[in-house]
Amino acid sequence: MSSVDFKVEIGGLKLRSPILLASGTVGYGHEIAEFINMNSLGGIVTKSISLKPRKGNPPQRIVETPAGMLNAIGLANVGVEEFIKEKIPFLKKYDVPVICNIAASSVEEYVECTRLLDYEESIKAFEINVSCPNVKEGGLQFGNDLKSVGIVTNKVRAVTKKPLIIKLSPNVSNISDFAQIVKDEGGDAVSAINTLVGTAFNIFTRKPKIKNVNGGLSGPAIKPIALAKVFEIKRKVEIPIIGIGGIMDWKDVVEFMIAGASAIQLGTVNFINPIAADQIKKDLEEYCVSNKIQKISELTGSYILE
Ligand SMILES: Cc1cc2nc3c(=O)[nH]c(=O)nc-3n(C[C@H](O)[C@H](O)[C@H](O)COP(=O)(O)O)c2cc1C
Repeated sequence: MSSVDFKVEIGGLKLRSPILLASGTVGYGHEIAEFINMNSLGGIVTKSISLKPRKGNPPQRIVETPAGMLNAIGLANVGVEEFIKEKIPFLKKYDVPVICNIAASSVEEYVECTRLLDYEESIKAFEINVSCPNVKEGGLQFGNDLKSVGIVTNKVRAVTKKPLIIKLSPNVSNISDFAQIVKDEGGDAVSAINTLVGTAFNIFTRKPKIKNVNGGLSGPAIKPIALAKVFEIKRKVEIPIIGIGGIMDWKDVVEFMIAGASAIQLGTVNFINPIAADQIKKDLEEYCVSNKIQKISELTGSYILE
């Protein structure tokens, strides 16, 4: 039994720990469940679910880069129906809050997907992935357009009373404007950040290393950017933040919380060290005990600027 109070609250979502697993990096929990104690996680965020199954992009879909990786999976997923039939029952075997991440190519699809999943009692919150092309607007990503993020938040809000988290894209100039519109339209929290656009070439074949050419950059390479985005939101908008981006160990968690995060998600680290979530929790507890921190939530936004 821990002497440190790990409980956190994110826009009405009460969690026993601030450590969550990030969307797309642990699928629907099957593989990671062999390595970690699912019952001590703060929560698991599912791979993005869309209304219909998606095959995703052709390979090569992943490539390692200095201090990170590029991925262009193309939102491959099983779709709502299969998710309800096959994936939810597996997750129900554990005492772990499920945060359902939703992807879509139209506002209507976001709404329909949320509506169909809303009755599932094991889903404790929705995380909306707005880093998706808006087919009706010529493929412009929802997450790069302030108005679209506002509309998606507003329309999804209307069909669920569960905590609504919007996962923000870092590929914008002022991320705090996006956090503000989420708040104004009834969102409960934001996750920051999704991946940054990147690419890589093979110098011998002169071809892109990723078939899709561009991919999403993640891992330690993006940590300083993610921290700056979390800090910008914290200073400008009063909304709970889930920090994501290059978190590899307990020190990174503390840094994100000091910058303003109420909770964090582990992404790329799960590929390198699948037991990271358990290790980080243990190390965080030691840090809190030796620094006389009784409640981990005290860390949130505790930065000192002079
Ligand atoms: C292989 C891979 C697949 C991902 N798939 C999704 C996804 O389906 N939906 C989503 O919102 N984010 C997805 N992400 C983004 C992560 O959830 C996270 O925001 C990002 O990787 C930054 O965190 P990290 O540096 O700790 O990995 C994916 C990331 C990776 C590496």
